[in-house]
Amino acid sequence: MEIVLSGIRSTGHLHLGNYYGALRNFTRMQDEYRCYFFIADLHSLTTHPKPDDFHSGVKAILSEYLAAGLDPEKVSLFVQSSVPEVSELYVLLNMLAYKGELERTASFKEKIRGREENVNAGLLTYPVLMAADILVHRAHKVPVGKDQEQHLEMSRVFARRFNSLYDTNIFPEPQAFNFGTDLVKIPGLDGSGKMGKSEGNGIFLIDDEKTIHKKVMRAVTDSGPTQPNSIMPESIQNIFAIMKVVSTPDTIAYFTDKYNDCSIRYGDLKKQLAEDICKQTNPIRERIETISQDDGYLRYVIEKGTTEARNSAHSTMLEVRKAVGFKSF
Ligand code: TRP
Repeated sequence: MEIVLSGIRSTGHLHLGNYYGALRNFTRMQDEYRCYFFIADLHSLTTHPKPDDFHSGVKAILSEYLAAGLDPEKVSLFVQSSVPEVSELYVLLNMLAYKGELERTASFKEKIRGREENVNAGLLTYPVLMAADILVHRAHKVPVGKDQEQHLEMSRVFARRFNSLYDTNIFPEPQAFNFGTDLVKIPGLDGSGKMGKSEGNGIFLIDDEKTIHKKVMRAVTDSGPTQPNSIMPESIQNIFAIMKVVSTPDTIAYFTDKYNDCSIRYGDLKKQLAEDICKQTNPIRERIETISQDDGYLRYVIEKGTTEARNSAHSTMLEVRKAVGFKSF
């Protein structure tokens, strides 16, 4: 069976964009592929998070993914730093990664802009660590967004380079993967652009009803249509785009008609949207609360996933070590 692997950043909380974009695909993949999903805590060390906050961030993300539908009986869930084979492969791949190609990586150039005080080697070799994550499980498919495509291309380059230098075919070349469906893009409610953590416009799965209502009621709108059947401005299209994933077709048809005959009241539209979002997120939020307090369950999930991931990584590393020429006396 083909292997799917993806890394999840360990900072922040899941928002509607993550849920309706990436996660719905993850939950479908877990039924059809051998899936490994991990929390990329090593990667987040490039920015030196405080040790005291580190674990709670990892735990929050894990609880949210479980609450949103990842099934630990179907997927291996683990924390990157608990699989030391990743770090070992990272060292070996670093010997095949060239300074020039790493410096040319778009994400590196982007990240160092305006932060000359902490351009550490971990930042430079971020794509090598990501390649180690993927290659250590010999993954075929990696569900990632557009922003990660260059990293994935570099993983293929490192895989090819390793295979050819050591005359082996240990590593398959991992391909980007979105399940053959167009990625659903969830817009923000601030007039334009997508919903995102860094955009500061997220509606989070852990937000309570009051917070969600407040955020939705603040959504940018205009003064309303003055001509029947006029084209919607982007800010209004965005509200309808979110409705499309949380509301019933009847609700959408009702408000579309109201827009088209100019009788729409944006206050009503937003109130309906907020209620429909809450209907979707309330059960998830309740599950997050239950799961995040169930240390025994979280331990079970992580122990199971870590054992599975370490077994897979270990068997790859046996072959890798042999290919490189390491031998015991
Ligand atoms: N770089 C990815 C991101 O920022 C996270 C990540 C780390 C990852 N290692 C990975 C994704 C391996 C896929 C496979 O979102």
